[in-house]
Amino acid sequence: MKEQLLIHEVIDLPDEFDIKDFKLFYKDIDLLRLSKDYGTPLRFTFLPTIEEKINEMKLYFKEAIQKTNYQGSYMYYYCTKSSHFRHILQKAIQSNIGVEISSAYDIDLIKSLIEDGNIKKSTKIICNGYKTSDYQAGILSLIQQDHCSVMPIIDSKSELLHYLENLSNTTNLTIGIRINLSFLQTYPHESRFGLSPDNIMSHYHDYIKANGQVSVTTLHFFNEKGLNTGNEYWNVLEEVIRFYCRFKRINPQLTTLDIGGGMPFRSSLNDTIDLSLLVRQLISTIQNICLEEGVQEPDIITEFGKYTVAEATATIFKINEKKQGDRVDWAIIDGSFITHLPDTWAIHQEYPVFPINNLKQNYKPYVLGGLTCDSADYYPNTIDRGYVMLPDTDNEQYITFLHTGAYQEALSGFGGINHCLIPSPKHIIIDRDDHEDLQYTVFSEKQTSHHLLKILGYQK
Ligand SMILES: Cc1ncc(COP(=O)(O)O)c(C=O)c1O
Repeated sequence: MKEQLLIHEVIDLPDEFDIKDFKLFYKDIDLLRLSKDYGTPLRFTFLPTIEEKINEMKLYFKEAIQKTNYQGSYMYYYCTKSSHFRHILQKAIQSNIGVEISSAYDIDLIKSLIEDGNIKKSTKIICNGYKTSDYQAGILSLIQQDHCSVMPIIDSKSELLHYLENLSNTTNLTIGIRINLSFLQTYPHESRFGLSPDNIMSHYHDYIKANGQVSVTTLHFFNEKGLNTGNEYWNVLEEVIRFYCRFKRINPQLTTLDIGGGMPFRSSLNDTIDLSLLVRQLISTIQNICLEEGVQEPDIITEFGKYTVAEATATIFKINEKKQGDRVDWAIIDGSFITHLPDTWAIHQEYPVFPINNLKQNYKPYVLGGLTCDSADYYPNTIDRGYVMLPDTDNEQYITFLHTGAYQEALSGFGGINHCLIPSPKHIIIDRDDHEDLQYTVFSEKQTSHHLLKILGYQK
C-alpha cells in the first residue's frame, strides 16, 4: 500500500517518497538528517532529476511523433533564465539538448561553457529576448567564432538591420522571428515581444528574400500563459500555425516552429495533468492544420525552463515557533517567503509542502509565517487564504517545499540584498556517483553578515 500524508488533504505519496520511522525520505535522501547536518534554511538540488525530466519529455514527443506519423523532428532546448547555475547547465547539456539564452551576460555564460568543453560545435544556441547593443554584439561574435551553432530570434526591426549591416561577407546567418501574439485575434493580452505578422512578411520581402547570406528558418512564439488544457492556448496555437503556413508559402527556407516554454511542473502532487496527452495534442494540432493548408509539417523546438529545473530543487525550513492566530495558528519559519520563494508572494505560486519529521503526531492547520516584517510574508498566499497541515507538536519541526528550482534565485537575487536583510540560504548539490551512491557538495554557504554589509558599503 502507498504511504499517505496529510497536507491540504490526504494524498497518496508518489514513489519518490518514503516514510521511515515517522520521517520523510525523498529520492532516498533522509531529509531530517540533511536538515540537521547542513542547517536550515537550506536549498538542495538533486541533479539526476534534470536528466529524468528531459528524457521523459523527449520520450513523449518521440511517442507522439511515431503514433501520428508526424513528418517533422523534435528538439529540446533548456532556457537558462529559469536557473543559470553552472551545475544545472552542465547537467542539462549532457542530455544532448540545445540552450536558449536571453541577455548579454548569457553570452559570457555560453563562452565559459565552451571554454570548459561543455558546449561543442554541434550544440545549438538560440538567442531570444530583447537585444541590447551589447547582446547584439555578443551574438555576432559568437556566430563569427563558430564554436557552436547560433540562431538569433529577431524581436524587432532594428535588431534585424543590425545583423544585416554588421555581418561579415563570409558569414551566413540563420535566424528565427518571433511573432507578436497581440496582433492575433485569439490572444486577448498586450505584448511587446516580437513583430506583427504583417511586419514579418514585409521585412522578409524587403530585407531578407534577396539576401543570399540570411535565411529565416524558424517562426517563434511564446504564450506565457503556458501549455494547458484551456481553449486559449490551442486557439492561439492554431492562429500561429496558420501564419506559419502562410509564411512558408513565400519563404521555402522556413522549416521550424519554436513554441517557447510553458510546459508545467508539478506544483501540487495531486495534479492530474497528463503531459504526454498535451504533447500528443500539440503534435496532432500542428499536423492537422498543416494537412488542411497543404504545407509540410514543421520541425518543433521547445524552450522548457520550469519544466526542466523546478522539480530538481527543494527548500527546507525549520519552524522557529508556533503562535496563536485569530483564525488559524501561525508557524514561523526560519526563512522568508518573499525572499526565499518569491513566487509564493508575487504570483501566489503554490508548491508541494510536507513536514519532514514528527509524522506520527496528529495534524493541525497552520499558516506559515516568514521572518520579514512584511505582512504579505506568509504561505499559502492565495485568495482563499488556505493553510497547511503540520504535526501538532512543540517538538523541533522541519518542513520542505518541493519543486522550487525555477526562477526563485533569479527573482530574489541570489547572494544579494533582501528584504529585512534575510540572508540567502545554504545551497547544496546532490548527485549520484558512478556507483549510484549519493554525493553531497556544498555549493554556497548561508550568506554572512559580512557579505551583506560589504554589498551595502559598510565594509571593505
Ligand atoms: C522566450 C521564452 N522562452 C522560454 C521561456 C521559459 O518558460 P517556462 O519556464 O514557462 O518553460 C520563457 C520564460 O519567460 C521565455 O520568455
